[in-house]
Amino acid sequence: MRRKRLYEGKAKVLFEGPEPGTLVQYFKDDATAFNAEKRGTITGKGVLNNRISEFIMTRLNEVGIPTHFVRRLNMREQLVREVEIVPLEVVVRNVAAGQFAKRFKVDEGTPLPRAIVEYYYKSDELGDPLVTEEHITAFGWAAIQDLDEMVQMALRVNDYLSGLFRGCGLRLVDFKLEFGRLWEDEQMRLVLADEISPDSCRLWDVETGERMDKDRFRRDLGGVEEAYQEVARRLGVLPEAGPVDLKGPKSVQ
Ligand code: C5P
Repeated sequence: MRRKRLYEGKAKVLFEGPEPGTLVQYFKDDATAFNAEKRGTITGKGVLNNRISEFIMTRLNEVGIPTHFVRRLNMREQLVREVEIVPLEVVVRNVAAGQFAKRFKVDEGTPLPRAIVEYYYKSDELGDPLVTEEHITAFGWAAIQDLDEMVQMALRVNDYLSGLFRGCGLRLVDFKLEFGRLWEDEQMRLVLADEISPDSCRLWDVETGERMDKDRFRRDLGGVEEAYQEVARRLGVLPEAGPVDLKGPKSVQ
């Protein structure tokens, strides 16, 4: 069935959904880093992230954290609620790594005294700058009440996911969330949107400290596909199909 393509991002495509108020989220194998300066393909990533994000969003829904996720449709697609994306990336950090370690000259791996929440304004042109509550409210990207709600939700997600990953031998170092506004009976509700996967989380093996996430691609560490597969395997969602079936189509129809 041909569906109307509404938006194409770096790692996903959004198509018109089967019913009003729904969208189909298609997961590509494409990977980008450093504001798309680095581009590549991670074979099977779309299939794995579709499963991993399905699993995580389902668990979060079960513990009362609302998300846009409805159900997985097939290997690379999931049905989601159509939301108005809040133009912020909400990052939660438990351990110094990545940009944080660089910005404050802290050794990667240094545990933080408490979870730190940061906001970045989603803008490719500006390179997703770090912003404060003042910027967010002054520019009207979100109201202060919405921001409070997003922080509360982000910290609940952090508590829940830290435990979930710890249970499979992974340390949740940091992650990025996106939120969307859902309108129901003229009431607005904030829900988690986008995806939660090794593209958007830093996951380190508890025993070896090995990186099991997109940093393997960002830093050319090798074993990228294997790391994504291992995360899926530990969560119990590795598809039975072999690597041949994980290959993506040449182009999205
Ligand atoms: O690069 P940085 O250290 O700020 O990343 C923090 C966390 O947010 C990492 O887990 C990274 O995967 C995620 N992130 C993301 N998308 C971005 C920037 C960061 O998923 N555009």
